[in-house]
Amino acid sequence: MRGLLPVSRMTSGRGRRRSAAGEPAVATLVPMCGIVGYVGGQQAIDVVMDGLRRLEYRGYDSAGVALVEAGSLHTAKRAGKLANLDKALAHEHPVPATTGIGHTRWATHGAPNDVNAHPHTDAAGRVAVIHNGIIENFAELRVGLERRGHDLVSETDTEVVAHLLGEELSRHDGDLVAAMHGVCRDLAGAFTLVAVAAADPDRLVAARRSSPLVVGLGDGENFVASDVSAFIAHTREALELGQDQVVEVTRDSVTVTDFAGAAAEATPYHVDWDASAAEKGGYAWFMLKEIDEQPRAIADTLLGRMAADGSLQLDEMRLSDEELRVVDKVIIIACGTAFYSGLVAKYAIEHWTRLPCEVELASEFRYRDPVVDRSTLVVAISQSGETMDTLMAIRYARAQRARVLAICNTNGSTIPRESDAVIYTRAGPEIAVASTKGFLSQIVACHLLGLYLAQVRGTKYGDEVKAILDQLHRVPAQVQRVLDDADQVRVLARDLAGSTSVLFLGRHTGFPVALEGALKLKELAYLHAEGFAAGELKHGPIALVDIGVPVFVVVPPRGRDAIHAKMLSNIQEVRARGARTIVLAEEGDDEVAGHADEVIWLPRVPTLLQPLVATVPLQIFACEVATALGHDVDQPRNLAKSVTVE
Ligand code: F6R
Repeated sequence: MRGLLPVSRMTSGRGRRRSAAGEPAVATLVPMCGIVGYVGGQQAIDVVMDGLRRLEYRGYDSAGVALVEAGSLHTAKRAGKLANLDKALAHEHPVPATTGIGHTRWATHGAPNDVNAHPHTDAAGRVAVIHNGIIENFAELRVGLERRGHDLVSETDTEVVAHLLGEELSRHDGDLVAAMHGVCRDLAGAFTLVAVAAADPDRLVAARRSSPLVVGLGDGENFVASDVSAFIAHTREALELGQDQVVEVTRDSVTVTDFAGAAAEATPYHVDWDASAAEKGGYAWFMLKEIDEQPRAIADTLLGRMAADGSLQLDEMRLSDEELRVVDKVIIIACGTAFYSGLVAKYAIEHWTRLPCEVELASEFRYRDPVVDRSTLVVAISQSGETMDTLMAIRYARAQRARVLAICNTNGSTIPRESDAVIYTRAGPEIAVASTKGFLSQIVACHLLGLYLAQVRGTKYGDEVKAILDQLHRVPAQVQRVLDDADQVRVLARDLAGSTSVLFLGRHTGFPVALEGALKLKELAYLHAEGFAAGELKHGPIALVDIGVPVFVVVPPRGRDAIHAKMLSNIQEVRARGARTIVLAEEGDDEVAGHADEVIWLPRVPTLLQPLVATVPLQIFACEVATALGHDVDQPRNLAKSVTVE
């Protein structure tokens, strides 16, 4: 147990606008963060810090905790990774508190310094609050507070909430629940808030609007967190809070109300994830472990999807066959890696269903006035289920009366809850910031959707659906073979770690694989990396090719003869200009060997499934290059796992 700075000893007063490090405080920091709260019989600091360790993937610009003990609040916060806070706490005296909150933050703009780190308190140090999201009307609220004589020391929107809570506490005789109701009614925007009050050491109060918050139900102890990984070591029983709800948590009770204070319902659920799934289990990086978990992730995503008669069944699908038959267009919306899984899906969905399928970046979708109506099926792909760009896009789509189906890895998250239907990927918790098993399981879930649509609409016969399902069931073993043969990629990564630029080429489903290979290298190794449709090369990007530039080329299986032959020409084009070509091709494709400096052999799979095996060496390559360069693979700079701001 360690000690913390009592809030009463924190300096406050007009003119305090500098962080401990001396940098000027900055305007409007917008957090997108990990949140944990605990009330129970254990030492709160231990539970909260352990929870933050598990949530750090959500953001790692700064971290802080607040503990409530004997009528006072004790806070500590530090810029940088959680390790900095841990070090600071090691020098403090223990605080024997059994109620506490903690926060790990990702700033969207402005310096992540000590002052702007959470928790924030009111000037009197009576209440401490942590926050995820954006208070859109914070500027106006702040002006009001300043007019009423409040002196705010940071320029975050969160501190405004702390001061408002302080005011409401006075108005409501120290009742933190009533104070939270009052404040939430005045806030615009998206937020998760968790507050503790000095005078109320056995209670925490949390609220949510359009931002994640789950409650963990223990025995003589309860938890709140941004996601279940924070408390999964303590309990698997959870409560999913609804929109605009406040929850009051003591060690023996959990009471849910709406913002008006009326009793409200939350949904209990059991967390299936194994606690050990959120541990590194001997791997140097979560990412390596998650890459290795891909055969299981694919197998689990396929589990139980085939009925006794060989037809495809999707149990969670809440859309009727009738509703699916009237669909006349599919629009896939997603961000980043999830978007690339959508690009792969387009090939399969159009081919199997003959429905037009558009794939759109979620952040662009609602700004272009898309043609969406009640016969459009909008498919939102998200590992976390909390990506704000995707969430806002599905809200837009639903407002246009489209049916929305989520493909998601996180039970109880906002995107599936706000969708008409869901197909869960069953990849287990993905902790490394860079998505790996999330991506492959998204492709599998998209393929299941495509096949299901084909089955319901009669564009594929039952035996055809079954044949593809059989092929999909063989993929876990094929991915395992790629993993078992990955030494060649590791050697290559060490050899190429000094490169300044790496290019990736693909055609057809190999194109999104090229994009994903480049994204992984950018985000982990901070190298210039670009993925191109191989046919586009001659329209400009070929100018990037120079002597020794590594070019990865994803060659399609030989069944697609037209594109196969064209890829061989593309390899020759870059080779003629001095590129070092690393070709990914299916086993037995002897023709490519003569064109490549190096060949990474892939198991033989149909073209539509090739991304499931071809992406794996590129994931390993990026991870190994980043490791060779000394980077933190699980927590790359400037990134966070769950992007809950737009
Ligand atoms: C890249 C990566 C991101 C995510 C994107 C969407 O490795 O992980 O590009 O794919 O932020 O996240 P989700 O799937 O949670 O919506």
